[in-house]
This record gives sequence, structure tokens and C-alpha cells, in this order.
Amino acid sequence: MRRADRRPGMLMRGVTGTYTRTQMILHWVSALLLFSLFSLGYYMTGLPKGAPGKGQWVNLHKSLGLTAALVIAWRVVVRLHRPAPAPLAGLRCWEAELARITHRLLYMCMVVMPLSGYLGSSFNQYGTRFWGIPLPRWGRVDSALQHLFYTLHGMTAYLLLGLVVLHVAAVVKHQWFDAQRCMQRMLPRRHEHAP
Ligand code: HEM
Ligand code: HEM
Repeated sequence: MRRADRRPGMLMRGVTGTYTRTQMILHWVSALLLFSLFSLGYYMTGLPKGAPGKGQWVNLHKSLGLTAALVIAWRVVVRLHRPAPAPLAGLRCWEAELARITHRLLYMCMVVMPLSGYLGSSFNQYGTRFWGIPLPRWGRVDSALQHLFYTLHGMTAYLLLGLVVLHVAAVVKHQWFDAQRCMQRMLPRRHEHAP
């Protein structure tokens, strides 16, 4: 069956109709957390070494990053139990494929970001506190490993940013230039009230 032959609401094998309300909430909460973490991450790394308050910003970043990790883990579990909805009606084959690959890469970067941050922090002398609670370290102080994981953290951040720009550009294109109902897929449906 060609994509163009699909009628709205039609279900394919292994494909669900829409994102659930939980998936929508998790999408917007994780997006908000990620935007805050990006701002905080670039702000704090831009501060000079030993600047007053830098330690507090880094600790806030770590706690917020681990909170994001919990939300992302929940999101991944929900997604593994529920296949993606059929692609937006009217998409060309390559557009649907690009969206699928971009979503996969977004998920991969969302997992690598907190993991690399936490592992990097496990190999330096400061360790990690989660809203004040000290977490276990996974090794001795090792500046080579710390550097490796922080490099991975910084590079994945660039990749994730690039993917988010592509993702948002695609939503804007489909929603406003092609007049397709793209945003509505990630927003709860308004119920019609009887008069
Ligand atoms: C999804 C979650 C996260 C995002 C989006 C994020 C984002 C960022 C960004 C954009 C930077 C600046 C990168 C640079 O300039 O090199 C950064 C740095 C940093 N992040 Fe994260 N982060 C996350 C989670 C975490 C976690 C969970 C930890 C630790 C528990 C952490 C620890 C750090 C540290 C220590 C730095 C400074 C690294 C350095 O000095 O090179 N991050 N983060
Ligand atoms: C950090 C920011 C963001 C990340 C990491 C992200 C990630 C994702 C991922 C992975 C999906 C696929 C969901 C799945 O199949 O389970 C998705 C879907 C979606 N996102 Fe985002 N997103 C972000 C920001 C945004 C923003 C700012 C918008 C609005 C302009 C947006 C609008 C959408 C829409 C409409 C969908 C449904 C696409 C479809 O299936 O047709 N996202 N997002």
C-alpha cells in the first residue's frame, strides 16, 4: 500500500494511531529540561575557572541532568512498549524515512548526554550530587577518562542541537508551509462540548 493510499486514522500492522497523552507530556517536559540544560551547560562552561558561584551552577546542572535522565528513561520505556504512529499523512517516502532516522538519533543522543555527563563526573575529584544526595563513583580519579567522557558529552551536545534544529525546522515546514496537521500530533486533542 502506498503512503498516499492511507486514509486518516487508518492503522497499519505494528503501528498505533496517535501518541498517547503520557508520550505528549513526556515529550514537552523533556524538551523543556533539555533547553534549560543546554543554556546552563554553555553558561557554566563559559565562566572562568574558580568564578564565584560556578560550583553551584555545575551542581544544579548535574541534578537537573539526572532528573532529565529519569524522564528520558521513562520516555524510552513507554516508546519501546508502543510503536510510533503511522507517519504524517502526505509525507514523501524520503521525508518519512528522514523523520524516522532523526527521531532515532534524537533518542540516542538523549540517552548518551546524561550517561556521558555522569560518567565524566565519576572520574573527577568532585563526584556527583543529586539534589544534595551524593551518588556512587564508578572509579578512581582519572583525568584521561574524565576528558574522554566530557569530550563525548560536548560533541553529543552539538549533534543533539543540530538534530533539534532539523526537527523543529521540519515541524515548521509541514505545519505552516505545507499546511499539514503536524503539531496536532504532539498536542492533546480538544474535545467538542455539546451545547
Ligand atoms: C540530557 C542531559 C544533559 C544535557 C542536555 C547536558 C548539556 C550540557 C552542555 C550543552 C554542556 C556544555 C558542553 C561544553 O561546552 O563542552 C554540558 C557540560 C557539562 N555537563 Fe552536561 N548535560 C546533561 C546532563 C549532565 C549530567 C547528568 C551531568 C553529570 C551528572 C552533566 C555534567 C556536566 C559537566 C560536569 C559539564 C562541564 C564539562 C566540562 O567542563 O567540559 N551533564 N552539559
Ligand atoms: C529538545 C527538544 C526536542 C526533542 C529532543 C524532541 C524529540 C522528539 C522525538 C524523539 C520525537 C518522536 C517521538 C516518538 O516517535 O516517540 C518527536 C516528535 C515530535 N516533536 Fe519533538 N522534540 C523536541 C522539541 C520539539 C519542539 C520545540 C517541537 C515544536 C516545534 C516539537 C514537535 C514535535 C512534533 C509535532 C512531533 C510529532 C512528529 C510526528 O510524529 O509527526 N518537538 N520529538
